[in-house]
Amino acid sequence: MCGIIGIVGKDAVADRLVDGLKRMEYRGYDSAGVCTIESGQLVRRRAPGKLANLVAELSGNPAPGNIGIAHTRWATHGAPTAENAHPHATGEVALVHNGIIENFKTLRDELVADGHTLESETDSEVVAHLVSREIENGASPQDAVKSVLPRLRGAFALAIAFRQHPGMLIGARLGSPLVVGYGEGEMFLGSDALALAPLTQKIAYLDEGDWVVIDQAAATIYDSENNRVEREVTTSGASAAAVEKGNYRHYMQKEIFEQPTVVAQTLSSYVHQADETVALPQIDFDLSAINRVTIVACGTSYYAGMVAKYWFEQFARVPVDIDFASEFRYREPVLEDGGLSLFISQSGETADTLAALRYCKEHGQTIGVVVNVPTSSMAREADLLLPTHAGPEIGVASTKAFTCQLAVLAALAAHMAVKKGLMSRDEEREVVKHLLEAPAALNAALDHDEDIAGMAHLIAPARDVLYLGRGPDFPLALEGALKLKEISYIHAEGYASGEMKHGPIALIDEHVPVIVLAPSGPLFEKTVSNMQEVNARGGKIVLISDEEGLAEAGEGCMATIQMPRVHPLIAPLVYAVPVQLLAYHVACAKGTDVDQPRNLAKSVTVE
Ligand code: G6P
Repeated sequence: MCGIIGIVGKDAVADRLVDGLKRMEYRGYDSAGVCTIESGQLVRRRAPGKLANLVAELSGNPAPGNIGIAHTRWATHGAPTAENAHPHATGEVALVHNGIIENFKTLRDELVADGHTLESETDSEVVAHLVSREIENGASPQDAVKSVLPRLRGAFALAIAFRQHPGMLIGARLGSPLVVGYGEGEMFLGSDALALAPLTQKIAYLDEGDWVVIDQAAATIYDSENNRVEREVTTSGASAAAVEKGNYRHYMQKEIFEQPTVVAQTLSSYVHQADETVALPQIDFDLSAINRVTIVACGTSYYAGMVAKYWFEQFARVPVDIDFASEFRYREPVLEDGGLSLFISQSGETADTLAALRYCKEHGQTIGVVVNVPTSSMAREADLLLPTHAGPEIGVASTKAFTCQLAVLAALAAHMAVKKGLMSRDEEREVVKHLLEAPAALNAALDHDEDIAGMAHLIAPARDVLYLGRGPDFPLALEGALKLKEISYIHAEGYASGEMKHGPIALIDEHVPVIVLAPSGPLFEKTVSNMQEVNARGGKIVLISDEEGLAEAGEGCMATIQMPRVHPLIAPLVYAVPVQLLAYHVACAKGTDVDQPRNLAKSVTVE
């Protein structure tokens, strides 16, 4: 899941390429590189690590030229070194790649046997050599690409520059996203519209298997059968303004604090305040006929799906299956007619989720997509598009996208119940009322930021941390553990409170903090009993509950975090805040890179 960009420009491109990379650093930040063509030569600059290293390299060693390609990397094959950084080049060709070439070993062996010397450990470099070999044998760039693409297995978005053709670039996509940008006397390629936002808003999305030749004036697009095709040019809504941190120290912190606003924004598309109804976008299928819901997602989005399972079952009495996309797609799941397959994704580009979506489509399912990027691949393949309106999420650890996903999913579950005749008018009114209470409750939760910052030192020295929750708060325990792992590098596990006694309780001692999520409500007493089992064994507890819950069970805890008293429906949204803030402050206390934690990337476009 790297980010790629290419420019055939009127004037110098290096700075603009770097700016494009900056906007795509969320896709990976293991290394970065550019290659321009100047005076008949490929001019390549690369640096390991964050983009700042490439900027430093370019300031001492500029890359002039009006045409170029660039790359920001999330390492798959080969360590994040300068040698493995893209662009990969031969004397004739330079190339950037996002994806994985699965048959690269065979191709590499073939090239080596043919006398080629490859410099990197990457899968991508073989593509540069394959194309170069065709060029050296006298093929045109178009013919070279045409003959190489069918030999590649796996997923790719490519941008290729040719030394002897300083007025053109070729792009290609299969499985990884690639867009074409139309400028004034300039043309662009990019992994997404956001990367190109300062350059143009006129964007064409390539279809699977498409490849494209761009020059200063035009784009010529071919499908996988090499037929000339047209792809609609749309106006992208991506903002040219760089997303700024404002007064916040980190994007993650800013995004946590944006939650009341963006959840309200999202809800305004899903509930009718005036007539107190749930209002979904135009649906051209019968929601009442849905007999099964299959939820598929990855990471934090998966945990939003886990919470939604409780809601679909409780409100709409429909059986729900949920799986990680990477598991789902390889287990040959049984999908009966009449099912709704629901895909949840911030980016809309996660490779496993997208592959699972296509599997479900092939198996006759109605495809629902809850997604934050409305121009993403998943959004474009949905029958029912349910956008979250969280705005761009930059911090690698997802926060505001999660709570917005929950808001949409709660509305969808309630709407399905209404359509199935299982939710009365009064009950629907209640659901709407509680959902609309969420933004204020999120604000009240955020008021405890300082208290949470003040207790970070209790968690920061720990080697292991356990999170416990029950019912819809169990996925929150999983999400809390994930957040802590991602950004503070502390090992953490989320457990269903009742499951503690079947194993994890053996881990309890005074060195393992246990974070208990227990809002007052029907499950409170049960969770507190499990908490007492931890207490009895010398465990150090941080109890997150409301005033009533803390009064009842807060005594003897190492620390407590007070949440507002909320209806159980919105508790998962509200309790997301303290687990996000706790992870955030612990990471700050440990001095880790909160927005770009090691080894991770925001958008995972490889399997
Ligand atoms: C990565 C990110 C996570 C995210 C997951 C799923 O692992 O680091 O924050 O939850 O991908 O991404 P998606 O865009 O599909 O929600």
